This record gives sequence, C-alpha cells and structure tokens, in this order.
Amino acid sequence: MSETAPPRTPPVVAHPYAFVGTEFDPHRSSPDASQADASGDASYGRLVVPGEVDVSHGAILYLDSVTVSFDGFRALNDLNLAVDDGELRCIIGPNGAGKTTMMDVITGKTRPDAGTVFFGQTIDLTRMNEVAIAHAGIGRKFQKPTVFENLSVFENLELALKMDKSARKSLFAKLSGEQRDRIAEVLATIKLTDAAHGPAGRLSHGQKQWLEIGMLLAQDPRVLLLDEPVAGMTDQETVATAELFMSLRGKHTLIVVEHDMDFVASIANHVTVLHEGSVLAEGTMDVVQNNPKVIEVYLGR
Ligand SMILES: Nc1ncnc2c1ncn2[C@@H]1O[C@H](COP(=O)(O)OP(=O)(O)O)[C@@H](O)[C@H]1O
Ligand SMILES: [Mg+2]
Repeated sequence: MSETAPPRTPPVVAHPYAFVGTEFDPHRSSPDASQADASGDASYGRLVVPGEVDVSHGAILYLDSVTVSFDGFRALNDLNLAVDDGELRCIIGPNGAGKTTMMDVITGKTRPDAGTVFFGQTIDLTRMNEVAIAHAGIGRKFQKPTVFENLSVFENLELALKMDKSARKSLFAKLSGEQRDRIAEVLATIKLTDAAHGPAGRLSHGQKQWLEIGMLLAQDPRVLLLDEPVAGMTDQETVATAELFMSLRGKHTLIVVEHDMDFVASIANHVTVLHEGSVLAEGTMDVVQNNPKVIEVYLGR
C-alpha cells in the first residue's frame, strides 16, 4: 500500500481525529444532534458520575439490533455485538461484510436506521455526535496514517495530548512534568523513544502507524478501534504490532478489524466473524477457523 498523504499542518482548534468525513453524508449525525449526553445521566434511576463509563455488567460496548441501510442495501443487518471491558476483540469477515460501517456507527460517523449502541450501561452513543463520542473515550485509528510529517515524533504526541479535552486550555502552555511523563510512557509503549526527536515524516510506514496509535493513547481512550492496522506493514512490524496490542489489552479495550489471519491468530482470544452485516460466528480463533460457514464465506477462499 502506498502512503502518499501530503504533510499536514497542525490544526489549532480541532482534534485531528474528531473531524473526519466532512463530505455530505445523509447518515451522518447532524452537528446539533447534541453533545447532549456524554455524561449519560438518564438510566434506571441510578446516579452516574459524569464522564464515567458504567461497566458494572462487564461489557463496555453493546450493539443491539443495529441496522444501517444504504439505498435499501443493508450494510449492517440486525447486528448484535457485546465487547467486554479490557478485551482485545478481533473482527474478521469478507470485504463488504460491514466491518467499517460498524466502526462508523460506534464512532458516530454513521447514524443507524435502527438499533442501539451503548458505551457501558448508560451512555447511548446513537444520541451523540463524533466529537462527543471521541471525548467520551472512544478513539479510532483509520487505515492511512495521518501524522504530521514535518513535526517530530515527540511534537506529534504533544499535540495529541494537548488536544485532549481536559488539557485543551494548555495548548500554548509549556508541558507539565506529568504531561512529559505521559509522552515518555507512550513513546516507550510504541517503541519510538529513540526516534522521538526526528521528524515523523522519516518514520517507516509501520512506525507511522504506531505513532498514530500513540497519539490516540496520549488521550487515554477507554476503547480503541483499529481498522486494518497491519496492512502494508513488514512481517517484523506486524509482529511488533501484535506485541503492542497484547500490551494494551486490559488497560484499554481494543477492537481490531484485520484480514491478516496470522496476525489475528497471534493476538486473538475472541474473534467475531461478520458476514452480510450480521455476526456469522463468534468464539476462539480455533472454533471460528473450523466453523464450516466461516470457511465457506471467508477463510476457504
Ligand atoms: N456510504 C456508503 N454508501 C453506500 N454504500 C456503502 C457506504 N458505505 C458502505 N457501503 C456498502 O456497505 C457494505 C459494507 O461496507 P463496509 O462496511 O465498508 O464493509 P467492510 O469494511 O467489511 O469491507 C458494502 O457493500 C459497501 O459497498
Ligand atoms: Mg472496511
């Protein structure tokens, strides 16, 4: 895969990942469809701490009977999915199965025609826009890395950290000691400590992907969605990415869409197979790989 995205200048006000897909899209949530309820205050009469995700039932994401139609074609068709807090979930399935659409629905880019999407027990993501969902703690990594090539690796992370809602006032302020520590921690996690002060444009494709993951990690998301993260990576980079994801499990919930089955086998203990907008099979890699329906529509081809 060629990576020819032009260098971008850093935005001043916008979270670099929050404002995507600005072209007209009838399914896209309207901007006034409310920041309403990142706090998720209305549920079962219980008091919910604003900004806190209630995972008392174990799951951090629930999709319930989600349907998305494009001109009558159901990209998601009564999709049901629950992901546990801290899980590393892999989603596989043939092209067109609805994997990216599922991520679009979770992140608020696409509004479902039917069904609900809950973040923890109380936060209804279908009532929130993309910015509010990102701020509530759901980060998304797109396929192409979009790091700022002319800035150093460190500066990319600094920018991401300062774009975080809680720190936004400090955009032009010096980094606090705590923020420096956080950047150092992220650099170590994504194995770019030695490259910290060189321009991001000089990183390999794989390293750029890690940097972008690091930019998301700087904001400490509860859930991280990753669409085909190892596409275009060398074998070595792919193995290092598997190690990275394993190290993140438990601290964050990771939902990984990937076609590279060796990679999936190396990280997954729970795999969901999507097909025609619904779950075709779910379970351990072993169970899924030996499912005749899965072999027929996906793995056997
Ligand atoms: N904006 C859109 N308009 C029309 N059809 C779409 C749109 N987005 C996705 N689709 C269709 O929905 C189906 C699912 O797509 P997608 O979620 O991208 O699948 P996957 O990521 O599993 O390959 C495909 O048939 C695709 O062509
Ligand atoms: Mg896709």
